[in-house]
Amino acid sequence: MARVQKSAKMQDFMGVHTDIQRALDAAERAALRAGELVMEGWRTGTEIARKGRFDLLTKYDLESERLIRGVLSKEFPDHRIVGEEGAETGEGDLVWYVDPIDGTTNYAHGHFFFAMSIALYRGREGLVGLVHAPALGTTWKAAKGMGAFRNSKPCSVSTRAQLEEAVCATGFPYDRGSNGDDNLAELALFLRRARGIRRCGAAAVDLCLVADGTYDVYWEKGLSAWDLCAGALIVKEAGGQLSTYEGEQADPRTGKLVASNGLLHQAVLRTIGEARHNLIPD
Ligand code: IPD
Ligand code: CA
Repeated sequence: MARVQKSAKMQDFMGVHTDIQRALDAAERAALRAGELVMEGWRTGTEIARKGRFDLLTKYDLESERLIRGVLSKEFPDHRIVGEEGAETGEGDLVWYVDPIDGTTNYAHGHFFFAMSIALYRGREGLVGLVHAPALGTTWKAAKGMGAFRNSKPCSVSTRAQLEEAVCATGFPYDRGSNGDDNLAELALFLRRARGIRRCGAAAVDLCLVADGTYDVYWEKGLSAWDLCAGALIVKEAGGQLSTYEGEQADPRTGKLVASNGLLHQAVLRTIGEARHNLIPD
């Protein structure tokens, strides 16, 4: 009896494992095809429309999302898909978060830092994350319990333990023209304390650069689930730490996140706390 139960459990585990691998493969297939498609329009002077004062849209955002949704829904017709540029489809507790181009401003200006960001989550639990930056020729990916990879080689977070030796990345919300909570207080304090600050304009890529040890820290708020879900799982699987600004358990679907190599996490939270204390009076 005991043996039967044990083998049934193993069967379950293998089943889940296979499904996760199948989901990761589908995400990679979709992202690589979308990457080829958007590269056709990169640096061609493609037309740029505006969704907001600073928030841009090109026809390649729309076409990339259409392609990615097609691949995912063909492979997993029962899953929900939440994408930046389209209406939510499907139902159930397995949800794909899709950013067809994270870093549209970069893409529209011919900058290299943009990516397809694709994640599969059940609630706040990340199962699969894949970020493909076609102009950089780099793909990062992870699946729950299976580690993180950059161009198919395992990757892990850095081991730097001092903020003054750390390179930190962040970004600024699109409502920065009208919202005083614009990340400038945090930026000013990190500029004084850290070795370097980078603002490369693609949250998914920023997170992956923490995952592979290039950056040591990343923080940002005012984003969406599709910007953060894939990169957050990749950081976690690379051995990094994720939390809210207050140090609580992170939920990347909320669009607000601190990510680090773990060693720097407390120093980062203290710095953010100090900066925001000065910003927002009690
Ligand atoms: C943007 C990028 C950027 C961040 C913006 C995001 P999008 O995503 O991730 O780094 O600072 O706030 O909205 O709009 O190019 O997909
Ligand atoms: Ca986008």
